[in-house]
Amino acid sequence: MSKTKPTNDNKPYITNHSIFARVYELLSRNDSESSFMEPLRKETAGAAHGLVLEIGAGNGLNFSFYDPKKVERLEAIEPDATMLHYARRRLATALVPITLTQAAVENLPFADSMFDSVVATLVFCSVTDPEGGLREIMRVLKPGGTLYMVDHVRSQGAIAARVQDMVTPLTRLVSGNCHWNRDTAHAVSKAGFQINQKRDLSGILMPMVVLQATR
Ligand SMILES: C[S@@+](CC[C@H](N)C(=O)[O-])C[C@H]1O[C@@H](n2cnc3c(N)ncnc32)[C@H](O)[C@@H]1O
Repeated sequence: MSKTKPTNDNKPYITNHSIFARVYELLSRNDSESSFMEPLRKETAGAAHGLVLEIGAGNGLNFSFYDPKKVERLEAIEPDATMLHYARRRLATALVPITLTQAAVENLPFADSMFDSVVATLVFCSVTDPEGGLREIMRVLKPGGTLYMVDHVRSQGAIAARVQDMVTPLTRLVSGNCHWNRDTAHAVSKAGFQINQKRDLSGILMPMVVLQATR
């Protein structure tokens, strides 16, 4: 089904994790953001091309990495009111035109087969319905369009994964519904995407995955 306008279907997913968003904004200014996350942002947002959709843009840390030589325009969605406030302030850092909308990945207010690229960094750990969200990304991507993703994922070691299961109720509570135990690469593949590139970054309780997948 085609969707062209924002709908009330997003209401159940609209959040205001204001304390988490404020802490995230503060941590965004520290060294691990610049030394660890910035290169990954350059790699994912910097690879996007054409008409691009960013999912869960947060406080807008990817905005400055979109390449105006490759990106025609960016539609960015973010469900959280406080994150949106910070994201609006970072619009000025972008070199490409950006439209920012309060919406969730489970109900994207866009037509079918519209986007060349979709970017999601550190988002699928937190979405309420990852399968529904991936279905929506599949719907709005053009055939052959690319999903660029970075996330922290379920550990491959049984003991570490068990510890992740144990701490997840707490991380959900204090970090805006963040799950430490999700096998997101598997979910992407199960949703029908073709994974073309996948890189695992080590980390015992917070291993990361960087992937590119096509519709
Ligand atoms: C850890 S923050 C990451 C923000 C940003 N993507 C980044 O790389 O810095 C997780 C983000 O996912 C957003 N999020 C949570 N559930 C979502 C959903 N259902 N749809 C879209 N975004 C969602 C949160 O509001 C938050 O901004």
